Amino acid sequence: MAARPTEPAPPPPAAPHQMWGGRFSVGPSEALDALNRSLPVDHRLWPQDVTASKAWVHALGRVGVVTPIEETQLLEGLDRVAERLADGAAVGAADEDVHTLVERLLYAEVGAVAGKLHTGRSRNDQVATDLRLWTLQAIDQVDGDIAALGRTLVARAQDGVDALLPGYTHGQRAQPVRWAYVLLAHAWPLVRDRQRLADARRRVAELPLGSGALAGSGFPVDRVLLKEALGFRAVCANALDATGDRDFVAEVLFALSLVGTHLSRLAAELVLYSSAEFGFVRLSDDFSTGSSLLPQKRNPDVLELARAKSGRVLGDLVALLTTLKGLPAGYSKDLQEDKPLLFDAFDTLGLVLPAVSGAVAALTVDAERMHAALDASLRATDLADLLVESGVPFRESHGLVGRLVREAERSGVPLDHVPIAAAAALHPALGAALAQLGTWEDSIEGRATPGGASRASVDEQLAALQLAFAATGST
Ligand code: ARG
Repeated sequence: MAARPTEPAPPPPAAPHQMWGGRFSVGPSEALDALNRSLPVDHRLWPQDVTASKAWVHALGRVGVVTPIEETQLLEGLDRVAERLADGAAVGAADEDVHTLVERLLYAEVGAVAGKLHTGRSRNDQVATDLRLWTLQAIDQVDGDIAALGRTLVARAQDGVDALLPGYTHGQRAQPVRWAYVLLAHAWPLVRDRQRLADARRRVAELPLGSGALAGSGFPVDRVLLKEALGFRAVCANALDATGDRDFVAEVLFALSLVGTHLSRLAAELVLYSSAEFGFVRLSDDFSTGSSLLPQKRNPDVLELARAKSGRVLGDLVALLTTLKGLPAGYSKDLQEDKPLLFDAFDTLGLVLPAVSGAVAALTVDAERMHAALDASLRATDLADLLVESGVPFRESHGLVGRLVREAERSGVPLDHVPIAAAAALHPALGAALAQLGTWEDSIEGRATPGGASRASVDEQLAALQLAFAATGST
């Protein structure tokens, strides 16, 4: 019912704190609010939002937008806001996003002067700054987890120099190698992952703050000082680009996807080796799971989940790139969807990396089973190489040894048990080569090129990787 003109209008119901709304006659519908709200996801940016806001207050103070007294009020107020947020003030809050939440709490702490904080700033440069700050920390955390897995692989490799097993290509036994060598083949990709993250980190550390909504700030804030205060490396060069740029999210998601892929490959190999058919490794009880029906089962869920979660991280990358590709320069609300993807990727690897490290650290290795899988056919290349040493061109020696393999298969004996006379009948040097074959260890040591499976090469790699994953090693 309309109020009579002589009576004052009743006060409107207490509206939630909003950063906009003056130009609208009513607030957003429930359905829009539910879609638009990002607080359930971006609340975790509050420490960065407070830090960046404090730097912004300083910058506003320097250009006289706030007086020294107001500057102090705002800074102290932001500290109190941080305390409240640390005590859980974000839980269940109805605000649109973390920036609105921080501003509302600041009003509650310092009153009207809180309204000066957002001068010359937009949520567009604010959110990009917060997210970059968050990403820098998250990179350091995941880098530490990757290095820890690297150290675990290296430590296990140190125990595995004398354990010999078939190396596989195409899933087929190919040549003898050391278990250490196999583990190190999974450690080197982690070195590259860390390099990639360190490289991406340089570009994450570019400061968007001071870009305003798209065209720069209306107040002559010192962006270089802001950059220094917030620990960025450089200042973003173009405000329209800076506010719409999520390349840093895409780059980091790619680097994380590749980490996930590497974990998945390691996991896939260990799932295979832990099967009864291979029996090369056995997961410890505390990294194994059981079956609800099959009492005997010892399942490698930890490895299977590592394998599957890599698909999820890759999904985060693809979702982000798909979101970005249709956007013009500058901020579009589509960019709000970057955070669930980035957070998910870091959270996922934060779960997977320690679990894989733990499983690898506690793995039991069955060197006898590994050795038992070395069948004589793996000597074929050694034989071909020996023929080469006696002057037979490799293509010819390859053919001769192939015939010897066929002969062994035909007569049902291992390759090194073909009668010397039968080998010599194929080529005189082949009989001699067969008699000359040494141990498996000799076979591996025969491939002593740098990067090969020989003891010296493995030792060199161990030393290099120890350095690469040293606990003090930074990005
Ligand atoms: N919650 C928003 C996001 O995450 C903050 C930026 C909003 N900017 C805007 N112009 N509505 O992207």
